[in-house]
Amino acid sequence: NGRKPYRIAVIAGDGIGKEVVPEGLRVLEMAAKKHGVAVHFDQFDFASWDYYEKHGEMMPEDWKEKIGKHDAIYFGAVGWPAKIPDHISLWGSLIKFRREFDQYVNLRPVRLMPGVPSPLANRKPGDIDFWVVRENTEGEYSSVGGRMFPGTEREFVIQETIMTRTGVDRILKFAFDLAQSRPKKHLTSATKSNGISITMPYWDERVEAMAKAYPKVKWDKYHIDILTANFVLHPDWFDVVVGSNLFGDILSDLGPACTGTIGIAPSGNINPEGNFPSVFEPVHGSAPDIAGQGIANPIGMIWSGAMMLEHLGEKPAAAAIVTAIERTLGERTLRTRDLGGNADTTACGKAVAEMVE
Ligand code: NAI
Ligand code: MG
Repeated sequence: NGRKPYRIAVIAGDGIGKEVVPEGLRVLEMAAKKHGVAVHFDQFDFASWDYYEKHGEMMPEDWKEKIGKHDAIYFGAVGWPAKIPDHISLWGSLIKFRREFDQYVNLRPVRLMPGVPSPLANRKPGDIDFWVVRENTEGEYSSVGGRMFPGTEREFVIQETIMTRTGVDRILKFAFDLAQSRPKKHLTSATKSNGISITMPYWDERVEAMAKAYPKVKWDKYHIDILTANFVLHPDWFDVVVGSNLFGDILSDLGPACTGTIGIAPSGNINPEGNFPSVFEPVHGSAPDIAGQGIANPIGMIWSGAMMLEHLGEKPAAAAIVTAIERTLGERTLRTRDLGGNADTTACGKAVAEMVE
């Protein structure tokens, strides 16, 4: 078609990021070709230890001009604790993207794939298939508060939860929209209004108000304590689960953990309005313990590419990648070591790309 190609900023970062990104691109290129999507990739070497070693900072001063106009950012992983403390590398890159590009949605699928053993007994593919939507900019993770009288008997600390109407409503709207787009049309809200008696009743109130605009969506809410239990006991109950920054953080690790290895889990840090680029990245980090050996599982990176295409509105191309991942994992022949196979990173990436083809 005659449309302008999507411009994707590609940042491999550190460790296995450098190994899985090429496989992600291989699959993206294949899916784009098969489905007539024009994509252009620009690679950047910043947000890595190598860049820091040369320049004394994680990113150039004009990083926003360099990647801020792209349609999305395809990100590997950052962090090399043996060389540079995580608070410098992560806060100097990834956290800046999330904050300064107003990526207020953190989105992760929780989906049991064929051929991947679940730590939950007697669950098969199809039983677990939902999304966790986490508020990514405010809530419990605020910098409002302080410490007084340090080192004395009177010492105290305070950290305030910040919930703004704008912030709560926009994450709920995203979650309700997502629920409405799915066959089950079911939204679950994480709360704790029995214990946290000011902010959480407010959250509940906004859920109720938002639900009025979505009459087709069934919704319910659980306190976070029983909700975590139900993720393990009844993962089949869920379709879209939305939570504040803290609750969403917990649920978005617990959910994917219930469906197997960290090597396959993808995520998106999304600015839904498209005022800024969104970041798509695997859940895992740079895995220094296996970096350089060519054995990392590239599926988390590849699946993140599918989420990116979905975000761009390229549904058939996105679905083709997810199906190819399912088939590759289901066939059990070209799997990496973390899944009990002996394929290397490239062989696994090529297998998924061929499946897309
Ligand atoms: P990690 O996710 O890098 O590794 C945890 C364990 O999972 C390791 O044993 C690793 O070998 C294994 N693993 C991870 N991804 C894998 C894959 N694709 N295939 C096979 N095995 C895989 O977490 P860790 O070790 O706590 O952190 C390492 C560095 O990564 C740190 O600097 C950390 O801050 C950073 N990090 C960065 C993230 C990001 O860029 N978004 C997210 C998480 C950690
Ligand atoms: Mg977390």
